[in-house]
Amino acid sequence: MDPMQNPFSPGAGSPPPELAGRGPLLEQARITLSRVKAGRSERSFLLVGLRGVGKTVLLNRVRELASDLDYHAVLLEAHEGKPLAALLLPPLRQLLIALDRMAQISRKAKRGLRVLKSFFNGLKLKYQDIEIGIDVEPEPGIADSGNLEADLAEVFVAVGEAAAEHKTAVALIIDEMQYLSENEFSALIMAMHRISQRQLPLVLVGAGLPQLVALAGRSKSYAERLFQFPEVGALAARDAADAVQEPVQKQGVKFTEDALREIIRQTKGYPYFLQEWGYQSWNLATRSPIGIGVVHEATRESIRRLDANFFRVRFDRLTPREKDYLRALADMGDTTQRSGDIAARLHVKVQSIAPVRNGLIRKGMIYSPAHGDTAFTVPLFSEFMKRIMPQEPKGH
Ligand SMILES: Nc1ncnc2c1ncn2[C@@H]1O[C@H](COP(=O)(O)OP(=O)(O)OP(=O)(O)O)[C@@H](O)[C@H]1O
Ligand SMILES: [Mg+2]
Repeated sequence: MDPMQNPFSPGAGSPPPELAGRGPLLEQARITLSRVKAGRSERSFLLVGLRGVGKTVLLNRVRELASDLDYHAVLLEAHEGKPLAALLLPPLRQLLIALDRMAQISRKAKRGLRVLKSFFNGLKLKYQDIEIGIDVEPEPGIADSGNLEADLAEVFVAVGEAAAEHKTAVALIIDEMQYLSENEFSALIMAMHRISQRQLPLVLVGAGLPQLVALAGRSKSYAERLFQFPEVGALAARDAADAVQEPVQKQGVKFTEDALREIIRQTKGYPYFLQEWGYQSWNLATRSPIGIGVVHEATRESIRRLDANFFRVRFDRLTPREKDYLRALADMGDTTQRSGDIAARLHVKVQSIAPVRNGLIRKGMIYSPAHGDTAFTVPLFSEFMKRIMPQEPKGH
């Protein structure tokens, strides 16, 4: 089939041709946004899910929903080792300037800018690489203590008040939230706590790997009262079938039933893989309907591509000991394992391998579904580990 017409879009954050199975989540998001806009209290929501399930795509949709509801949306992505304050400052500055321009008299937006300036002054000593031109006098004594927990709350309140003054609302959308530090997370929680007490129109919508939930819990015990953690997972069989069948049908092509079943079996319903298998199947097919034989070929090609890219980039960031750890985990299957059993398999003590395990959690490769348990955050990674390291490590 003509590759130019290929409807599928495998890739980080690429909007899929058919956003299957996410109706209820988006409806929940719409209700949250509408309630916050109307000054009602509502918990912020943090989407939690494994790699490639469609979190970034959903955040982008939430941003669209927010714009439809006349929100001002701020979208950012946390990075390992980049301070949250440095990520927040430029978009918040832009937002306040936009609010300031909306009306002739905009006391709160101007004050917001002064508070942001103070916040910046408070940080300056720590992050000397932040350059931000805010051409106003600071608001002394507000948000400039240098203590993130105290200061961020002041900044959020100032931004929320500026939005309220203009009868608008702010959606703060943060991707890859698992990369925030505990201190940053607890500052965010404190700030949202203040926002909810004051019923200001500011909502936080985040996404991240499952370690996010533990991070939130550790940072502040009342996180559950402020946040909901909707799970984003693999698609149910019906939705997974729609994800590949609908896009080709729009072009007068279809998959046979057994071809669909094989795609679902191979991908386990994970959105990223559905896009990949759909993409390869389309390019390999010579006519409609696309049958199971084509899907078998697509499986070989998809795995080759994933091994060279999606899996490979993650593997290359690992130290030799981390690779051994993941290889041992892979050999035990694709499911959750007891950390003690993994250590035993490597012939080491749990305590001595703990730093390796913690490093892998920080890198977002594994997570702990429950205390003492370990599982991969990247679907189908266990099979990849066995392909790339055919021999299991001898132990340490
Ligand atoms: N509901 C869906 N139906 C079909 N395809 C989808 C769906 N959601 C996402 N996809 C596709 O899955 C792929 C991964 O999406 P996305 O990058 O949003 O995942 P993610 O959860 O943010 O992954 P990561 O944790 O690696 O950042 C994209 O190619 C996207 O088009
Ligand atoms: Mg993402």
